[in-house]
Amino acid sequence: MAEIYRASTTAPVNIAVIKYWGKRDPKLNLPTNSSLSVTLSQNDLRTHTTASCSPSYPKEDTLLLNGSPQDVSGARTQACFRELRALRKQLEDSDSSLPKLSSFPLKIVSENNFPTAAGLASSAAGFAALVRAIANLYELPSSPTDLSRIARQGSGSACRSLFGGYVGWEQGTATDGSDSIAFQVAPASHWPNMRAVILVVSAAKKGVSSTTGMQTTVATSSLFAARASETVPRRMQEMQKAIQDKDFEAFGKVTMMDSNSFHATCLDTYPPIFYLNDVSRAAIKIVESINAAAGKIIAAYTFDAGPNAVVYYLEENENEVAGLFKAILGEKDGWKGERGAKIKTSDVENVRE
Ligand code: DP6
Repeated sequence: MAEIYRASTTAPVNIAVIKYWGKRDPKLNLPTNSSLSVTLSQNDLRTHTTASCSPSYPKEDTLLLNGSPQDVSGARTQACFRELRALRKQLEDSDSSLPKLSSFPLKIVSENNFPTAAGLASSAAGFAALVRAIANLYELPSSPTDLSRIARQGSGSACRSLFGGYVGWEQGTATDGSDSIAFQVAPASHWPNMRAVILVVSAAKKGVSSTTGMQTTVATSSLFAARASETVPRRMQEMQKAIQDKDFEAFGKVTMMDSNSFHATCLDTYPPIFYLNDVSRAAIKIVESINAAAGKIIAAYTFDAGPNAVVYYLEENENEVAGLFKAILGEKDGWKGERGAKIKTSDVENVRE
């Protein structure tokens, strides 16, 4: 019986406060603007992935997500497999005693503990976990920065899930993508009382995928150019300063304005893309009323490519923010059996099992 080599890891979801929307190179997933996100707690939203390989496996690589076989022939998954195998091959070429794992078929098994493709950044956690599980299996000496360059090719936002805390993704200028990498702005411990509540408006699969949506926006929106070239570069600076200073009012204002700007370019896309619905807009109103009652910004909403709201707040304002959402919405169905799931931010540990 041939040997089976195996490694597991988990990767958390990240939710952007400065959104990535637009590709300058769709093949390498090189973005038209830098972005910044907060990594959420692995206890709450994460992908767990086991990568294994063996000469005894059937010839084709396979991927099982939440028990269903996935197509791995797509260019993005293939790019990740190819890059990781090439790095393993370098190790094998320099040390002939190493088993030739790079030549064995891969079997990947992933589980999400939240609804897949519901606009909860499942592809981010998914590709981050896939890349790190294979890197662990191959015992690669790669840093999170190196892995972010590979995970980006699976799904752009995945590069940010390789770091914990507050994470930037530098758009870069190189045509080969070598400088389009994620970096840590600050660890979660720098601003540990940051919290998020997720309002699961719908756990259904999203209408327009991020990839298709952003390509159409780049091609048709007249608002888009100003967003990419002026608005986002300015906000990246403002956001990094807000995080360094632990200034929630600045953090919250930029977060909400950037979400609005992103959804405005979606509406300005032709044909228009509507990710927000009436419940999303009601959530915006609730956040506005919370902030009006407090006389300052203590809650900040943001929406990705779907109707679900993520509301950031500080732990000391738990009752005013998460408490109010709970009271209004009640404990209805949704993710984890609750409409609002309260979660912490996290540092990423490279869990090797
Ligand atoms: C709105 O990373 O899913 O969540 O690179 O095509 O896989 P692809 O796109 P993806 O887009 C995420 C878009 C977003 C904003 C963000 O996370 O920055």
